[in-house]
Amino acid sequence: MIPFEHYEQSAAWLCQRLGEFKPEILMILGSGLGDFGELVEEPVFVPYAEIPNFPQSTVQGHKGRFVFGRLAGKRVAVMQGRVHLYEGCGLEKAVYGVRVLKLLGAETLIVTNAGGAVNRDYRPGQIMLISDHLLLFPMSPLTGPNEERFGPRFPDMSAAYSPALRELARQAAAETGVHLNEGVYMYFPGPQFETPAEIRAARSLGADAAGMSTVPEVIAARHCGMRVLGFSLATNMAAGILDQPLSHKEVMETGEAAKYDFSRLMRKVLEKL
Ligand code: HPA
Repeated sequence: MIPFEHYEQSAAWLCQRLGEFKPEILMILGSGLGDFGELVEEPVFVPYAEIPNFPQSTVQGHKGRFVFGRLAGKRVAVMQGRVHLYEGCGLEKAVYGVRVLKLLGAETLIVTNAGGAVNRDYRPGQIMLISDHLLLFPMSPLTGPNEERFGPRFPDMSAAYSPALRELARQAAAETGVHLNEGVYMYFPGPQFETPAEIRAARSLGADAAGMSTVPEVIAARHCGMRVLGFSLATNMAAGILDQPLSHKEVMETGEAAKYDFSRLMRKVLEKL
């Protein structure tokens, strides 16, 4: 278990680095979506490697840094890149940034990812507002002794994705004209893409999208009382839907193509928060 003092050391270091600036919203950007961080005004870039105790991300397409600054009038901390379970460092490290930002005073998490569309009516390039998630693997970022200073032993997940913030996201989509699906995101630990059988199972369980991130961060954020809004960009139809293999290249290319819609929607959401 990571000692609470490690989070405190990271937060104290960032607090000093940022001076007067106090982030209110943490945004985590998924694969291929990192460029949104470039829109931050008066940006302060802080590579994870400079922060004491901070876990490093190794995935191609992830920059591995924070961008602190203002966006649509809000004080944001944007994570360009995150640590995934499949990088081999455990789920606690995957949620490290969420907890540090909570200690810095952020009360809202906007989490985004690239995922596969499980729902056959979705199309690559479309964005899904996450209404709920499925985590059927025997793992949680809260495994181990509970840190009461973050939250309770048995946190409630019955409205993990804030209904009020989701309503606001729907309005933002309507106002910007960006197509927004809404559905359930199912977590797969990866790094292999799912099999067609796993995707059929996911669909019969009620999943609309599948991916390898987000759920651990959402659990940690709810554990420590943050409000959560989640978006999944369908970068591909999930395994077995089309007669073609899946690739990280396709994920990155669709992310690139959807960048404009994604940015417009996120900016509007931030304005409304
Ligand atoms: N499955 C899991 N993760 C993903 C996918 C997928 O099809 N596409 C992008 N990330």
